[in-house]
Amino acid sequence: MYSGNVNYDIIDEAKKLNLLPIIANGDISLNNFSNLDSKYDFEAYMIGREAIGNPLVFKNLCDLEEGKNINKTDLNDQIDLMKKHMFYLVEEYGENRAISAFRGIAPFYIRGFNYAAMFRSNLVKMKSLSDFNDIVKDLVRQNND
Ligand SMILES: Cc1cc2nc3c(=O)[nH]c(=O)nc-3n(C[C@H](O)[C@H](O)[C@H](O)COP(=O)(O)O)c2cc1C
Repeated sequence: MYSGNVNYDIIDEAKKLNLLPIIANGDISLNNFSNLDSKYDFEAYMIGREAIGNPLVFKNLCDLEEGKNINKTDLNDQIDLMKKHMFYLVEEYGENRAISAFRGIAPFYIRGFNYAAMFRSNLVKMKSLSDFNDIVKDLVRQNND
């Protein structure tokens, strides 16, 4: 239910008090990171929503900071990451809990790609690992057609 826009100047005021290391958080993404990092002198950044379904954001931000090129992830990369995430959840929590947790997360992995809306509605209804695997197979097929 988090909403609203972050005010980095207020975080910066805390930073200028020099009492604590300051970790800035809120609305940080690849789009605004360079501007923020050049304008402020925070000790670290914390990334929330931008990392949901986008675990490579941390590597991408480090690459950006080091002036390296960022390779845009394609759908196949996202599907590989999503499958890995699913695998780790099942390993940690067992199939039922993993599936129920992943219903809310999986759609983020395919956000912005073709047919995302259609597959989102399947992913939020999946009941088993076998449903998940079928949906992923369909998604790959649909995008390779
Ligand atoms: C799914 C989700 C769960 C969160 N849970 C908490 C929480 O338990 N405690 C808290 O202080 N903030 C929580 N937050 C807020 C985040 O820590 C963060 O401050 C906020 O999302 C803004 O950062 P972001 O724009 O990078 O997401 C949560 C945010 C999200 C999206």
